[in-house]
Amino acid sequence: MAGSTTQVEPPLALLAELTHRCPLRCPYCSNPTALEGRSAELPTEAWLDVMAQAGRLGALQVHISGGEPAARRDLEALVQGARAAGLYTNLITSGLLLDRARLQRLKDAGLDHVQLSVQDSEPVGADRIAGLDGAHARKLEIAAAVRATGLPLTLNAVVHRRNIAHVPDLIALALTLDAARLEVAHAQYYGWGLANRAALMPTRAQLEAATAEVDAARARLKGRLVIDYVTPDYYARRPKACMGGWARRFMVVAPDGAILPCHAARTIPGLEFPNVRSTTLADAWSHGDAFVRFRGTDWMQEPCRSCDRREVDWGGCRCQALAIAGDADAVDPACALSPLHEALVALAERESAGAPPPYRYRGSDA
Ligand code: SF4
Ligand code: FES
Repeated sequence: MAGSTTQVEPPLALLAELTHRCPLRCPYCSNPTALEGRSAELPTEAWLDVMAQAGRLGALQVHISGGEPAARRDLEALVQGARAAGLYTNLITSGLLLDRARLQRLKDAGLDHVQLSVQDSEPVGADRIAGLDGAHARKLEIAAAVRATGLPLTLNAVVHRRNIAHVPDLIALALTLDAARLEVAHAQYYGWGLANRAALMPTRAQLEAATAEVDAARARLKGRLVIDYVTPDYYARRPKACMGGWARRFMVVAPDGAILPCHAARTIPGLEFPNVRSTTLADAWSHGDAFVRFRGTDWMQEPCRSCDRREVDWGGCRCQALAIAGDADAVDPACALSPLHEALVALAERESAGAPPPYRYRGSDA
């Protein structure tokens, strides 16, 4: 598949970012540094129409996220709408605005799966990262409530230099909480995460130790716990296929109705983003400027254009190319073939070597 004229396969999944409101203030948040307020959010009927359109378009799943999606009082109605549209519904949540009764209502509405975030394996560090006292204890209660309702649970832990040594404890916590899956994701440096990069960047030795722990646990726990592992780009030799390739597998609808190929796409200047208030998902997916712009391989320059990995990683991450190289068309600096790669590695080594600066939290810093 390449360019705008080829028949376009439907997206696998819709990422429905219901709201940017969130009770937590994680310093690695990949949401935009300027958030949409409640008044800009799509109303219930518009979201229900988005769910129905996604089903008609051929999407199989909806990942309902935010911010904290449970901040929306109409969450149950939206889950019901997604289920009616034939979508597998996954709720990505901090858990803080849920309780057992609401989880039961969500399950009754058709919710299929819960992905719950934890910030660390122990409460002091976890609450410091979350920016909220008592958050970790609350999450443990919610994890138990998820399992008590019979919903499958994935635990998601973003790891970075302050908690990366706790990967074995996070694996143990996932087992204790009866999670079927654990996602260990190294912090990505977009949005607020970029502002906190020096506070979050692990050393190469920390990364290698964590990777070895995950590899050993995967073998030991085969059939009991699935561990997904998202490695950090800055120490990589080749980039990941960000979002599974631009406009290939996912479409994002932002709280204000903007239709995006990835949640950070609005950082890229010069792209026009359609909005569900005036454009259908099908039209945006097939013809939207922002979707066509980096889909496939036609847009690539050298070295990607002639690289045998061009249909493996689809050129990596456009938002990272913009953030590091200042040019969304550039080869992703995570790739060793980028002229900026060595500088990126040196930056990671330099930032991780020094004492970490304090976290910058939303609302208490620039
Ligand atoms: Fe991927 Fe481009 Fe690097 Fe090849 S040159 S590995 S396609 S980013
Ligand atoms: Fe936008 Fe990677 S975050 S393409």
